[in-house]
Amino acid sequence: MKNEQTNNKKLVIANWKLHKTTAGVKKWLDQFLAEYQPADAIKIAISPSFPHVAAVRAYKTLDPKGLELAAQDVSRFKHASAHTGEVSAVQLADLGVKYVIIGHSERRRDFGETNENINEKIARCLENGLQPVVCVRNLTEADALIPIPNTQPLTIAYEPLEAIGSGQPASPAETQKMALAIKGILGENTRVLYGGSADSSNVTNYTNLDGVNGVLVGSASLDSMGFSKLVKAVSNY
Ligand code: PGA
Repeated sequence: MKNEQTNNKKLVIANWKLHKTTAGVKKWLDQFLAEYQPADAIKIAISPSFPHVAAVRAYKTLDPKGLELAAQDVSRFKHASAHTGEVSAVQLADLGVKYVIIGHSERRRDFGETNENINEKIARCLENGLQPVVCVRNLTEADALIPIPNTQPLTIAYEPLEAIGSGQPASPAETQKMALAIKGILGENTRVLYGGSADSSNVTNYTNLDGVNGVLVGSASLDSMGFSKLVKAVSNY
């Protein structure tokens, strides 16, 4: 039986980071969904800030086009514990979130996230049926992930630091080499995304690579029309 990790659909995640207010979220969704046609080749997830998860979910419920929801982080602590300001995996699952971005380099850098924290967050996701999308800058960070059961393959986003938000994406050859090396460490059924200055003009250089299963898109996901163009390029419609 084909599972999500072994089928050929490319996963494209829009990571809005700390952008957008309620009105901006609505405008983006209105514009994007007016253009978007689901295609066999692609799966899309939108990753808003926590306060907007429910708003995106409401659109998703209204619109049957199959957009998925991703969160930008999750608490490493268990649900219903005393941790002010945290959001639990149980709460995300309850809101219809499917993917959770974990260990983004901005969180490692600005919030002191350690490999241990990241492994705890992966565990919280897997306990609650959420799919972790773990960001790694290099193979050392991939190596630090605790092996998980084969039945729950990981999604890894390979995001070299110098490529993030710089307009200087990694070369496709280097990306492919890293994607294959990550699968070598974590298992062949690991899904590997590329992230770092991917946009509508360069995205297929990555999504067409053997061994690369999609993209994590920051800056180029903020504008609905630009993201729409990127999605069309990947879906080839
Ligand atoms: P970027 O961000 O597309 O703006 O480089 C990617 C990321 O940080 O995930």
